[in-house]
Amino acid sequence: MKILVVGGGGREHAIIKKLKEDARTEIVYALPGNGGIAADAVCLEGSATDISAVVAAAKRYAADFVVVAPDDPLALGMVDALEDEGFPCFGPRKSAAVIEGSKAFAKDLMKKYGIPTAAYEAFSDPAAALAYVDACPLPVVVKADGLALGKGVLICETRDAAREAVRSMMEGRVFGDSGATVVIEEFLTGPEVSVLSFTDGETIVPMASSMDHKRALDGDKGLNTGGMGTIAPNPYYTPEIAAECMEKIFLPTIRAMKAEGRPFKGCLYFGLMLTPDGPKVIEYNCRFGDPETQVVLPLLESSLLEVMLAVSGGRLAETEVKFSEKSACCVVLASKGYPGKYGKGFAITLPETGPDERVYIAGAARRDGQLVTSGGRVLGAAAVADDLPAAIARAYALADRIHFDHAFCRRDIGQRALKALEEKK
Ligand code: AMP
Ligand code: GLY
Repeated sequence: MKILVVGGGGREHAIIKKLKEDARTEIVYALPGNGGIAADAVCLEGSATDISAVVAAAKRYAADFVVVAPDDPLALGMVDALEDEGFPCFGPRKSAAVIEGSKAFAKDLMKKYGIPTAAYEAFSDPAAALAYVDACPLPVVVKADGLALGKGVLICETRDAAREAVRSMMEGRVFGDSGATVVIEEFLTGPEVSVLSFTDGETIVPMASSMDHKRALDGDKGLNTGGMGTIAPNPYYTPEIAAECMEKIFLPTIRAMKAEGRPFKGCLYFGLMLTPDGPKVIEYNCRFGDPETQVVLPLLESSLLEVMLAVSGGRLAETEVKFSEKSACCVVLASKGYPGKYGKGFAITLPETGPDERVYIAGAARRDGQLVTSGGRVLGAAAVADDLPAAIARAYALADRIHFDHAFCRRDIGQRALKALEEKK
């Protein structure tokens, strides 16, 4: 089969490598891909959000199957355009992608269908939002309604901070039109768990759970980033909690989407917080997480292609989706300065990798045959091992064999999870 993957980061690299494990995968095209993905796929020029360019590429290269990975093209309706031209796709249509594209939609859905989440109010009038933060309990969480590259969430400890957050989003439009509506919600506490799932709209199959590390520096200090590393499975996510999530969150969510006439097909990502009152939804994403995918897919023992085709064809109930009992860790190597200003164009040296090691390239270009950095998060060093301590050690051993100038990584990826394992004993 000829497969087109839309996107160009570490997540897409992980998807592509996994798709290639199936003998039916003849060739993978990536639009736009990146300089590192080019070792595994034919990279096509263009932008991942350019719907007509992607439809034209699907036609030109006679794609048998298209995987749309990032949130922006999904929210814009890229799957609708491709399916309307007859291309089978993995990814939700626009009407379902709104579960990530609008936080107000997601919150209203949860309220209507009794899915546990933080208490909230949505506002499109700044004066009403300001009046609300003058009286609500603190800390309070202020969120821009639309997509804001994962940065549109502010946890405010004081009323002044909450007022400033409302003003900057609604009046200053620091996140553009995403801030025209804000959701103001109750501050929750507890460990966070990411659960990605495959769903064809009827059946839902959770993948191995994972834990992201969003802050830039060790000890969860520094600015929020797209993710500095991940581990899987997440030790806080016990079989009992998994069963509770299935009953109270996962199944109710896909049933709600179907009842709303927005059946969700693709990867539905549940960002959960395990609060003292039980698991609650912090956010939905309409796509694979990055860098969660880099630890979850290496644990998938079934063919990703087979599972994706089953999702697309509505046959997930009849398809085996098996995950290994092993553990995985991914350490992100970033360029000094990220998530602020950083330099580019530093030559990357990659080592030989063993069978349980993967290097997923996120921000790199090829210049005169040399791989050079082109982004803040440059790559992920990922490893699989029998248990979590071994996976962490192996991922760091791999990361330490990779070189580019001004590289940095967090040295404590997985430490919180190890502590949770210790506490369980
Ligand atoms: P989101 O983009 O909605 O996932 O939010 C980003 C991060 O902000 C989450 O991963 C949480 O760490 C934090 N967060 C979001 N909502 C809440 C909440 N209601 N209470 C506490 N922390 C939150
Ligand atoms: N790692 C968080 C996300 O992909 O949204």
